[in-house]
Amino acid sequence: MSAVADLDAVLAEAETAIAQAPNAQALAEVRAGFLGKKGSVAAVLRGIGALAPEERGPAGQAANQAKVQIEAWVDARKNGLAAAAESQSLADHHLDVTLPGAASRVGHLHPITQVERDMCAFFQGLGYSVEDGPEVESDWNNFGALNFPEDHPARDVQDTFFVKDSTNVLRTHTSPVQVRAMSQLEPPFRFIVPGRVYRYDLDPTHYPMFHQIEGFCVGENVSLGDLKGTLYAFARHLFGPQAELRFRAHFFPFTEPSAEMDVSWGEGWLEWGGCGMIHPRVLQNCGIDPDRWQGFAFGMALDRAAMIRSAIPNIQLLFDGDVRVLEQF
Ligand code: PHE
Repeated sequence: MSAVADLDAVLAEAETAIAQAPNAQALAEVRAGFLGKKGSVAAVLRGIGALAPEERGPAGQAANQAKVQIEAWVDARKNGLAAAAESQSLADHHLDVTLPGAASRVGHLHPITQVERDMCAFFQGLGYSVEDGPEVESDWNNFGALNFPEDHPARDVQDTFFVKDSTNVLRTHTSPVQVRAMSQLEPPFRFIVPGRVYRYDLDPTHYPMFHQIEGFCVGENVSLGDLKGTLYAFARHLFGPQAELRFRAHFFPFTEPSAEMDVSWGEGWLEWGGCGMIHPRVLQNCGIDPDRWQGFAFGMALDRAAMIRSAIPNIQLLFDGDVRVLEQF
């Protein structure tokens, strides 16, 4: 009977040890201590050979039952530990969905974009289409086709950014888009072209990159009067019904006659842009018959309009990308 008594003691010990195993690894060690080759149950089994023959059977059976029992306790403890680990991890990673969230900052349109869209919408109302062109432009489209002579000062490196090892330039104005459109399309047509242009210039009112808006209209019987009427309507849309324009005779290679225009601003005048009737040679360069078709064109910087509208004193503030500034508009 001593083998069975030993087993009872082993079982009692096992039950406690298993229940107290703090984690899966400790549990595996406890299990080996009872059920392994050198474990307590094996030790009892080894003693069975020494028993009287009639005691061996019941002792063997008791040992097997003890094994099954210990295995069952181990499994139960394993499940218990796994469940506890899971609820611990759920508690550790608890997400409080009722906490108020961090609001993401909502952006808005850049002052330049606002002005640009407003201007395009105005001209679309007059039947103009919005067109654009590349900022890296051929010398021909930026200068040659627009009737700039080879030695024109605008071609000087003082003004123009040339693209290394090529005849391309960063466009110095949006007028090359006139060339692109006129070379491809049959008149009549009218376009408005907002875009970035580049000149070698930097001070509080000049930046090496700025924005222009170009307009041009080609048709039969298009006159200087049409140009003035269009610009008046545009100025009064932008600056109010009181706005006056002043035209000063000027020279551009691609328009004839040409003028610079100023818009009334408080007591004074604000330089606003250039304009004129498209030069017959430019029409010719683009494959348009100047005896049949005439056109006008105008171009102005729109950064200035954005600065006025948003009361921004320095053009660089527009392009520094400082959200503290940009958030104000
Ligand atoms: N392209 C000229 C400039 O940048 C402006 C202009 C456009 C003048 C169209 C006449 C006609 O100064």
